[in-house]
Amino acid sequence: MAEHIIDKITLGALVIVRDKMMAQQASGRKVYRLEVGDTSFNTPANIRKAINDAMESGKTHYPPSTGLPQLRAAMLKKMQTENHLLVKDDEHVLVTIGGMHGLYMTFAALLDPGDEVILPDPMWSEIAELIKRPGGVPVPIVLRPDQDFLYDPVEIEKAITPRTKAIYLNTPHNPIGVVLSEATLRQIADIAVRHNLAVVSDEAYEHVIFDGLKHVSIGSLPGMADRTITCFTFSKTYAMTGLRLGYMATNDDVIVDRCRKLLRLTTNGVPSITQWGGVAALTGPQDAVKEMMTELEARRNLFFDGLKSIKAFDSFRPQGAFYVWSKISDQWPGYQGKRDSWAMTNYLIDQVGVGTSPGIAFGPSGENYVRFAFTVDRPTLIESIEVMQNLFGK
Ligand SMILES: Cc1ncc(COP(=O)(O)O)c(C=O)c1O
Repeated sequence: MAEHIIDKITLGALVIVRDKMMAQQASGRKVYRLEVGDTSFNTPANIRKAINDAMESGKTHYPPSTGLPQLRAAMLKKMQTENHLLVKDDEHVLVTIGGMHGLYMTFAALLDPGDEVILPDPMWSEIAELIKRPGGVPVPIVLRPDQDFLYDPVEIEKAITPRTKAIYLNTPHNPIGVVLSEATLRQIADIAVRHNLAVVSDEAYEHVIFDGLKHVSIGSLPGMADRTITCFTFSKTYAMTGLRLGYMATNDDVIVDRCRKLLRLTTNGVPSITQWGGVAALTGPQDAVKEMMTELEARRNLFFDGLKSIKAFDSFRPQGAFYVWSKISDQWPGYQGKRDSWAMTNYLIDQVGVGTSPGIAFGPSGENYVRFAFTVDRPTLIESIEVMQNLFGK
């Protein structure tokens, strides 16, 4: 059979690690799940209650495929007041099955075969595959350690060709944890305006941000309101990964119209009770979010400082998201005859039960790195550092 466009999509590195860790966990071995982008927190109580209430009061019928009006209104208000996005109205807000689904629809609606999208390398691996799905071509910009992994506007502009359709950006960034400054975002916005490009802004980690830094939505900058598609999720902010709730917003009527059709023909809407949980999340108190983010910053400090004591790694101090990006030392002798990011990943799992994600899973420039997630509780992080200190020496 001739190769189908979907055959070109690759998946799997992160799934391989997860499956291996889960098999070891099931066999009773002590493991440290530092490969998972899902925090140990419980979904806040007011959200759980709203979901239970929705269930008990029979709010279990078809919702509108674009999302409950009450939820879209709450999302619009949040985006206008907090992100300063100039979204026209709630007709330009679409409720999605997590951030992933918003990004899927965005690229499906935006791209024709051969259209190019500029994106950072390394990057969450699913992004390149989502671009390839409708026939798009990912054009990577390498993030360099000697530039503190900056998504460099000069490099972005150099990569533009007549086929460039969009610039994708993700701040705070998975897997490195870099936060783009307002000055850099302004430079990227200026390039998008001058070259008449769309910008896809993935703000999954907008609230997971440390050191008092401020998250800026590029869509709020001059000239950007009508060319930006912004994708959000409840997964990271409200510890709702399993409830699968996200949203996207754009003033571009063509994109909205195409996404409405995609929604109608695919999911036909997010489960109603999850959406009622979303209403409670956005309209209720935000104390639980603050507490979770404070705890994540404490975990970042503890885990990053611990990793610094291990000579096998040279780690970047993340300013946001919940990952540490660590370069494998040239002094590490390797495992089973290999020294690459898979060798280190397998070595950590096999020797001490520490899960990581191999850097190569995030793009070619991720080779020789691993990504640790500090999503588990502090005692587990402390223990994981101890077992790695024992394995590698300090
Ligand atoms: C950069 C980035 N964008 C989007 C998502 C989407 O997450 P979800 O589909 O759980 O909302 C993730 C999840 O890990 C991510 O890392």
